[in-house]
Amino acid sequence: MRTLALGSLRISPPMMLAPMEGVTDPCFRDLLIETSGADAVGAACTEFIRVTEIPLTPERVRAELESHRGCRTALGVQIMGNRVEAVAASAAIAAAEGAAFVDLNFGCPAPRVFQHCAGSALLADPARLEALVRATVEAVAGAVPVTAKIRAGITDDRGLEDIARRVEAAGAAALIVHARLRIERYEVPASWERIARAKAVVSIPVIGNGSADDAAAATAMFERTGCDAVMIGRGALADPWVFRAWLAAQRGESFTSPNAEERLRWIETYAERMQQRGATPAQALGRAKQALKAAAGAGHVPAEPVSAALRAQTLAEFMDRAADRAAC
Ligand SMILES: Cc1cc2nc3c(=O)[nH]c(=O)nc-3n(C[C@H](O)[C@H](O)[C@H](O)COP(=O)(O)O)c2cc1C
Repeated sequence: MRTLALGSLRISPPMMLAPMEGVTDPCFRDLLIETSGADAVGAACTEFIRVTEIPLTPERVRAELESHRGCRTALGVQIMGNRVEAVAASAAIAAAEGAAFVDLNFGCPAPRVFQHCAGSALLADPARLEALVRATVEAVAGAVPVTAKIRAGITDDRGLEDIARRVEAAGAAALIVHARLRIERYEVPASWERIARAKAVVSIPVIGNGSADDAAAATAMFERTGCDAVMIGRGALADPWVFRAWLAAQRGESFTSPNAEERLRWIETYAERMQQRGATPAQALGRAKQALKAAAGAGHVPAEPVSAALRAQTLAEFMDRAADRAAC
């Protein structure tokens, strides 16, 4: 089995859960790791934490990391910001609080973020991007690896190699390439040759991301791009067993995909745990609907008509309607 080395941190297997705001909160991450097994999920990352002028507080970082302590899956903290001092100081706090690595977000396409020159907007300012990585590496002083998660560009990918080289020159331990442009947002299939292009110009590990939606696609991404690790985003929302399925395939073991009933139970557990951790019933119901929609979209639960469950007003009503459908 391959291992991803980020400085002295070993990530094994080289499979990572992508940061997804509004999805990969601690509750989702913990349950996904329980479901696929910590031996199948090499690393995960928090949703982005936005930093403006004031660095993160230790309490903010602790709230992200608390429930994860003792788990073998490496958990990184992702920071998004454009103020060099505040980002670097935040990274030092994340490292001191126990983050396994610090990831910097250079990919967020959201207009509000873009207008404030953060996330993917920094792809247009390679010098600032490089300075952010360098200052962050210096601030953590070798305590944890620093990674940078980029998109391939804003409106075209001509700057990809330059950005990749700058990330390496600034001392990052790995480069994560989401193989879409900002203008492609999320819908267009990712262009994996961009991952191969980045891999060709740097000697640090390259982590591929985008359209690795299931175990077979993750294997194909390794083969077609030469990447050192694969990061899965929406594929993991649609199928929380995706890491288990990949590991089983690597080991030549059989893996029985859970049936619709088991998948609905997972969604119910997820919603219950969200409430136990302080989410309102409406918030938990929203997350349950989001997960059901993703599972149905990928064909893991009957799609027709999931819309009845999606119109439910309470979790009990949602489960009743969804269970009726699963039994069809
Ligand atoms: C709802 C949602 C929220 C996201 N939030 C983040 C985030 O907080 N940080 C980040 O770097 N990327 C974020 N992303 C991008 C994902 O990490 C990933 O790069 C993208 O979904 C492509 O991977 P996929 O095709 O496997 O989904 C988000 C994506 C989605 C769909």
